[in-house]
Amino acid sequence: MATTALASETLDTDALKRLVLQDCGSCHGLTLKGGLGPDLRPESLAHYDVDVLMSVILDGIPDTPMPPWRPLMSEEEAEWVARYLLQPESMQ
Ligand code: HEC
Repeated sequence: MATTALASETLDTDALKRLVLQDCGSCHGLTLKGGLGPDLRPESLAHYDVDVLMSVILDGIPDTPMPPWRPLMSEEEAEWVARYLLQPESMQ
């Protein structure tokens, strides 16, 4: 059962991929090309370092609809998501 995949010791990367497409995708577009939120495809995020991207994910962007994900994911998971957004093909 999915108690919470996000709380488990090892990263459930399938769950994280679903989260990116469904939860992030609900604002950023289901193909991440942008919607309410901007385009999240690798070419659009190329100017971000992993650690900066990770803090945007964890803390959100104040005064915008971009929410902080810290209550919902660990730093390790946010780092995985940041790397996945930057280089989807290299993440399993
Ligand atoms: C409730 C809607 C919403 C959800 C859900 C959401 N975002 Fe956002 N996001 C936004 C908005 C709106 C912005 C633009 C904020 C601004 O005006 O700077 C943004 C901005 C961003 C940026 C900065 C993009 C750039 O070009 O600077 C990143 C990265 C980002 N979001 C990642 C994510 C990730 C990863 C998730 C899922 C874990 C997520 N967002 C979920 C609304 C959302």
